[in-house]
This record gives sequence, structure tokens and C-alpha cells, in this order.
Amino acid sequence: MVHEILVWPHPVLKQKAQPVAVVDDSIRTLIKDMFESMYAADGVGLAAPQIGVLKNVIVLDTTPRQPESKPLAMVNPEILSLEGKCSYKEGCLSVPGEAEDVERAAVVTARYLDEEGVERTITADGLLAIAIQHETDHLKGVMFVDHISSMKRELIRKRMKKIQSSMAEEVPEKPEKKKGAARSEAR
Ligand code: NI
Repeated sequence: MVHEILVWPHPVLKQKAQPVAVVDDSIRTLIKDMFESMYAADGVGLAAPQIGVLKNVIVLDTTPRQPESKPLAMVNPEILSLEGKCSYKEGCLSVPGEAEDVERAAVVTARYLDEEGVERTITADGLLAIAIQHETDHLKGVMFVDHISSMKRELIRKRMKKIQSSMAEEVPEKPEKKKGAARSEAR
């Protein structure tokens, strides 16, 4: 099932996700939904908080850029080591239409549980290394815009507010209490 992806600065995106105790069918369904939501939005990575689920689960698929890689679901991912440095123009499905240079480590080694609950370790470079760092950040409530200058971040915040208000206009609004009437009653 394709889920709606939350747009920053939605408050859920700033919260810390929780570890998964058992990799069961509910987690496998979550992973399936996350892949579907990511592909529907044409992304290379997605973290569970982006669809409103505060669990330590991320999915990645960098095969268009790295044909030797494979789609990857990581439960409770934990970065073990970071090596080197690189800079890459990052985007995020929760910050639509924006991209900024972010400095990251070039090589990442991470430990995680796969869809069967088996512990695995991966060493990645290139786009996959960047995506693992970007998505594990999401689990800590950190966005790529937290890595850029506050001036750029505030400009992006303004553009996101515009997107959100244009999205809200499509939904019929609840009738609000007439403030003028309430004031006259209070007099
Ligand atoms: Ni993101």
C-alpha cells in the first residue's frame, strides 16, 4: 500500500524512532509498504517516520545509479564506522523539489537486521553510503536540511509552507468559529 509521505517541517519528522523488538509479519508489511511508497514517489531511500511510523526501519534502492547494488531493507540499522569524506547534492521525499550539497562520509559500515530478522553487516560507498547516512538520520529526527546553513534552511522552510498551504486548499476546511461573533457575545 502506498502511503502519503510527510512533508518537512511536520513534527513527526523531528521525533526519534524506536527500535524494532521482533521482525514479524507486521514489520515485513511495513517494509513492503515503504518500498511501494518510495517507488511511487521515485525515491532511492525512505525511512519509516516519513510515512508516520516511528520505528527504526529504512529501505533503499540505489540500483539506477549503482547497478551492482540491490534493494535493501534495514531494521534497527546502526552505523559502525564512517570513513573518508564526500559531498553530494541530496534531496529528500519529505522536502519535495529541493536539493543541497551535504557533506557525508564516503564509506559506511552498518549493522542491521534483514526482513527475516537475521543480523547482517554491509560496507557501502557511493550513493548507497550517502543514502544509508541520510535515512539513519531520519530515525534520529534529523533531516538533510539540518546539515546546511540556517539561511538556506529557512528559505526551504518558506517554500515548504507554500506547498503545504496549497495542499490544504484542496481539502475542504472545517467551518471555523466566527471570532467576531464570540467577541460580541463576550461584551
Ligand atoms: Ni529523506
